[in-house]
Amino acid sequence: MSKDYLDAAIEIAQEAGKILREEFERTPDITYKGDVDLITQADKRSEQAIVERLQKYFPEHAVAAEEGTGRDTDSEFRWHVDPLDGTTNFAHGYPCFSVSIALAQREALVAAVVYNPFYDELFAAARGAGATLNGKRIYVSKVDTLATGLLCTGFPVHKRLASPNIHYYYDFTLRSHGVRRDGSAALDLASVAAGRFDGFWEFGLKPWDTAAGVLLIEEAGGKVTDFAGHPYHLGGPMILATNGLIHEEMRRVALEVSQRDPGAPLRR
Ligand code: IPD
Ligand code: CA
Ligand code: CA
Repeated sequence: MSKDYLDAAIEIAQEAGKILREEFERTPDITYKGDVDLITQADKRSEQAIVERLQKYFPEHAVAAEEGTGRDTDSEFRWHVDPLDGTTNFAHGYPCFSVSIALAQREALVAAVVYNPFYDELFAAARGAGATLNGKRIYVSKVDTLATGLLCTGFPVHKRLASPNIHYYYDFTLRSHGVRRDGSAALDLASVAAGRFDGFWEFGLKPWDTAAGVLLIEEAGGKVTDFAGHPYHLGGPMILATNGLIHEEMRRVALEVSQRDPGAPLRR
């Protein structure tokens, strides 16, 4: 059943990816939603194409899309859509951005796609059927110590001064091979699923940023919780996503940071 949903999500993500590739060639048309929260013509065109196609294929399903053109219904199925994750990168010509589409049935994620159209890399997962990159199975890494791990994180575009993340960034940088800040949470999570990063954390992400990436990681053998070790819920205040092997070590470091620094509570 979820296979059909996945096929649809793949087709739609590729269609949206075509639009992003086309727009990437043009001078970006930027407006601001907040002081550093950008929106471009590409975000809007991509979302319109995705929402229209979802509506056509699954008219009863609810759609939660970042730019607000989705719709609520009383269906137990809900699509989580980020039409362009990494808008700041996109607007600066840095080719690290993606389309993220996931389907949840009540609380359970059942199908997920993260697509980077610039590099034509398509990450996909269906519940119970594993995760793939361009059709080949992917798995999380086998790195089993934080000291030998490569990590990734992100910083919010809203209320930047209120974010505790710089404290965690400092400690994790000094205790690992390094921390990348790539600017597309959906791709960051997909990269953990593919074993490119060993761990990722961020505060304040929205359901459309994380839904697809979470299923990818679970299907690739990884683990997703919050810093306290509680199950991650879409839209929760923070996310910790790892290969499973360095999860507890990352949690211990996070606990230390939060106890040492009053500006860095585990939850926000
Ligand atoms: C942003 C990206 C970024 C993350 C921000 C998100 P957007 O999404 O995922 O990596 O650090 O918190 O808001 O605005 O480019 O869709
Ligand atoms: Ca996003
Ligand atoms: Ca977005």
